[in-house]
Amino acid sequence: MENQSSFEPKILGFCCNWCAYAGADLAGVSRIQYPPHIRIIRVMCSGRIDPSFVIEGFLQRVDGVMVLGCHPGDCHYMIGNYEAINIINATQRLLEHIGIDSKRLLSAWVSAAEGSRFSKIVTSFTKQIKELGPLGKAEGQGWSELEFKLKAAKAAAQSEKLRWVAAKQTEFMTQGNKYGEIFTRHELNRTLDAIIVGEVAVNELLLLLQERPISVKEIAATVNLPPPQVLRTISALRKKGLVGLHSIEGGSPRYTLRAEEEA
Ligand code: FES
Repeated sequence: MENQSSFEPKILGFCCNWCAYAGADLAGVSRIQYPPHIRIIRVMCSGRIDPSFVIEGFLQRVDGVMVLGCHPGDCHYMIGNYEAINIINATQRLLEHIGIDSKRLLSAWVSAAEGSRFSKIVTSFTKQIKELGPLGKAEGQGWSELEFKLKAAKAAAQSEKLRWVAAKQTEFMTQGNKYGEIFTRHELNRTLDAIIVGEVAVNELLLLLQERPISVKEIAATVNLPPPQVLRTISALRKKGLVGLHSIEGGSPRYTLRAEEEA
């Protein structure tokens, strides 16, 4: 069995082209040591990161994800790293909702001249992930359960509603919504959480319906939701034409995705 000392975490690092990637490069050419567990993907700006990129990393079984960009005020696209802060906030809330410790996702700032800072951040994050253990261990979840939730979370992250609110956080807190209502961080987090709960539930349900015809009772037991809530969601999806009635077995309707024929 894998113990903490033998655990070699896999870490994914998204580094912005203009600062963090150059900082990583400087650490390399200066021969500054850091743990070899990180694999870097270069992006033009930390603001380019989408929650679904992070979730996909976890689906590929990395144990931790870092998003590294320019220091606040130094972004080459002006506000990209401020956008990244909002995106990371929404992603951490999504991870927590599906039972993944949000400490597995870190954002930090590194300039092109900070090779040693890059090394320190990678070293400390690697230590943190080693302490948490392999993905799923700290969370007490087996891979198939986690994979199911991650797939639902990735689909939720790509939903229009969540993307829209996640992207508008700064605007809502400074200029307000179209009615001029300004939101506090707390209010915005509550809104984000409500959207996350709804979108993940819908996508968990769609994943189950994709597998086989299934009844409300079975769905409710699998996703741990009250049957009336599942029924309401199924009805809403039927109205949108995404779900249809497949058959009735033992007096219990079984639903499937886009049934061509209603029983
Ligand atoms: Fe580095 Fe935007 S260019 S964070």
